Amino acid sequence: MSAARLTTLDFREMKQKKEKISMITAYDFPTAQLVDEAGVEFILVGDSLGMVVLGYKDTLAVTLDDMIHHGKAVVRGSEKAFVVIDMPFLTYEINSDEALRNAGRIIQETGAQGVKLEGGLEIIEAVRKIVQAGIPVIGHLGLTPQSAGQLGGFKVQGKDPTVAKKMIEDSLALEEAGAFSLVLECIPWQLAEVITEKLSIPVIGIGAGKQCDGQVLVYHDVMGLYTGKRPKFVKQYADARSEMVRGVEAYVSEIRQGVFPEDKHIFSMSEEALALALK
Ligand code: KIV
Repeated sequence: MSAARLTTLDFREMKQKKEKISMITAYDFPTAQLVDEAGVEFILVGDSLGMVVLGYKDTLAVTLDDMIHHGKAVVRGSEKAFVVIDMPFLTYEINSDEALRNAGRIIQETGAQGVKLEGGLEIIEAVRKIVQAGIPVIGHLGLTPQSAGQLGGFKVQGKDPTVAKKMIEDSLALEEAGAFSLVLECIPWQLAEVITEKLSIPVIGIGAGKQCDGQVLVYHDVMGLYTGKRPKFVKQYADARSEMVRGVEAYVSEIRQGVFPEDKHIFSMSEEALALALK
């Protein structure tokens, strides 16, 4: 029998008990299987898939259908982790009705447990409406990649006191609107510590220091699979790409040398059957 999935209550309890929460991204079935087996509590189907899987330069071209397609595979591949799917650019900003319709599609079509939205007070009605419909929501503040153009690029956010103050207000508003968790990306650790202490919901950091209740990284960065720019906050735990290239090189080389396939990889038929076939 498969283990029951974690719920929003488990995360609240983990924060109360000061147990650290681990989140990682996944975008397909085998990756979901392996990160679930490795014991992460949260799997995020991030719109970072635009860059690390689909080869776009940013997240803006990612569509709702892309997220649903990849989200379905991740839900199929995982048993225990809580699966959260990013709402992509312009699927929740226009109005709260559209936001709920799109969040509803994500949950109904993928079977995921929650959705993540970028932004604070400007999207608060969308968050409220989605939560009121019974869908768990995670907020995302700080460096919000969907608005990187407006933020002046992929830069640390919140060093400026006015921006820091707004981020604290936004985080409180998200909690009040019913978000059950919050991602803080690329902000000073002191600001992340303040927000983590002020909120009763778990705060998951990425480039936000160790005082957060948990951490998230992009799977392709962790495994050394992404060849693009790597932010300072990334820690690479494996060099899977080199190992994969070595594997494919060995395959190509054995084909060229006639080593593969070996006897154990082939099928045979009787000489009589062959003779009859050639008649
Ligand atoms: O899209 C994503 O992978 C994310 C994480 C970086 C938090 O939003």
